[in-house]
Amino acid sequence: MKVSRIAWLLCKRTEVRRHTVCRTFISGSTTRLQQLSSARGSICRYSTESSINGCTALLYRNHGDPSQVVQLESMELPSVGAKSVLVKLLAAPINPSDINMIQGSYAILPDLPAVGGNEGVGQILEVGSQVKALRPGDWVIPRDAGLGTWRTAAVLAENDVISLPNDIPLFSAATLGVNPCTAFRMLSDFEELKPGDTVIQNAANSGVGQAVIQIAAARGIQTINVVRDRPDLTQLIDRLKAMGASHVIKEETLRRHEMKELFKTCPRPKLALNGVGGKSATELLRHLQVGGSMVTYGGMAKQPVTVPVVRLFLPIILLICYVCIFVSPDEGALRGMLDELCSLIRQGKLTAPACSEVGLQDFRKALDTAMQPFTSAKQVLVL
Ligand SMILES: NC(=O)c1ccc[n+]([C@@H]2O[C@H](COP(=O)([O-])OP(=O)(O)OC[C@H]3O[C@@H](n4cnc5c(N)ncnc54)[C@H](OP(=O)(O)O)[C@@H]3O)[C@@H](O)[C@H]2O)c1
Repeated sequence: MKVSRIAWLLCKRTEVRRHTVCRTFISGSTTRLQQLSSARGSICRYSTESSINGCTALLYRNHGDPSQVVQLESMELPSVGAKSVLVKLLAAPINPSDINMIQGSYAILPDLPAVGGNEGVGQILEVGSQVKALRPGDWVIPRDAGLGTWRTAAVLAENDVISLPNDIPLFSAATLGVNPCTAFRMLSDFEELKPGDTVIQNAANSGVGQAVIQIAAARGIQTINVVRDRPDLTQLIDRLKAMGASHVIKEETLRRHEMKELFKTCPRPKLALNGVGGKSATELLRHLQVGGSMVTYGGMAKQPVTVPVVRLFLPIILLICYVCIFVSPDEGALRGMLDELCSLIRQGKLTAPACSEVGLQDFRKALDTAMQPFTSAKQVLVL
C-alpha cells in the first residue's frame, strides 16, 4: 500500500541544476560580460567581429518593486567566440518567476546586476567557428533559467540555447520553454494517466493552466479547472472550454454539493496540480482519488499548503516540484518533448496563452500589469 509522504522533487538532480542556474545567471549580468570581455584575448582567434556590438537590456541592480528597480540600459556585447552564438532576441514574456526574482523573493536569485527574464525566443545571427548544431537563421530558446532574455541581443554559449522550428507562431515559441514544458512534465511524470482519467487544477487560466488543459485534451484526459471569480467569468469559462477544458468551476464551488454531481459525470482526479497554495490547495486535496498525487509547482497565493489530517491517513502522494524545460530527464527526452509540443502547436491543439504585446520602452507599465490580478493575459516584450 502506498504510504502518504511528502517527496521534495528538489532532489539531487535539481540541486545540480540549481548550481547550474546560479552560474548561468552570471550570463545575464555585467559580471558575465566582464568575464567574456576579459576572456576575449583567449578566444578571439576563433572569433569574427559581431555585426552587432551592443544591445539594450532591462537590467536591475537591486531587488525591489520591479517597475522601480528595472532600468532600460545599453550594454556592450563581446565578440562571438568559437563556441558561442550571437542571438537577436525576438520576444520574451514576463512570468511570475521573473517578478519574484526581481523582488528578491524567488528560491533562486542571480548575482546583481542582472538582466531580467528567463524565457523567450531569439534568432541566431552569427555562430562561432566551432559551433556545429546551430546556424544563422535558427530560432533558439534558453536551455536553462537565468539567461536574461529581456534584451535585444546577446552573445551566448552554444550550450545555453536549444533550437526550435521556426514554423510555429512567435508567441508560442516565446512562451514554450517554461509553462507548456512544465505542464507536459506534470502530466507525464507523476501518474500514469489514461484517456478518460481526470486531472484537477487551480490557476487554470494561468499560462501553465492553459497548457495543461490543451495537452490533457489532446491525450483524452478530462480536466476540472478551478479559477477565481471575476466580472467576466462567463467569457473566461467559454475561452477555457474552447481550449478543451472539460469543466471550469469557481474556487467556492470546490466546497459545495455541486462537486458530488460533477463526480457523477467523471472519475475523481488521479492528479491535482496546485499553482496557488493556501485554501485552494487544501480544497483540491479533498477531491483527489485515494492513491492519487498532488503536485505543487507554484504558490501564487503566497500561503502555505495545509493538508487536512484525515488526508494524511489516506494513501496520497504530495509532491513539490521544479519542472519545465530546465529539468528534462536527458537530451533525448528534452528534444522529444519539444517535438511533441511543436507538433501539437502545428495541429492547432496547443496555442500560446492570451498575450499582450509590449514594446521594450513600455516595460514599466508591462511589469505593473503583470502583477495585477485577473488580467488573464501574459505581457510579452517584443524586442
Ligand atoms: N515549478 C516550476 O517549474 C514552474 C514552472 C512554471 C511556472 N511555475 C509557477 O506557476 C505559477 C503560474 O505561472 P504562470 O506563468 O502560469 O502564471 P500567469 O500566466 O502569470 O498566471 C498567474 C495565475 O495565478 C493566479 N493567481 C494570482 N494570484 C492569485 C491568488 N492570490 N490566488 C489564486 N490565484 C492567483 C492568476 O489568477 P487570476 O486570473 O484570478 O488573477 C493566474 O491564473 C507561478 O507561481 C510560477 O512561478 C512554476
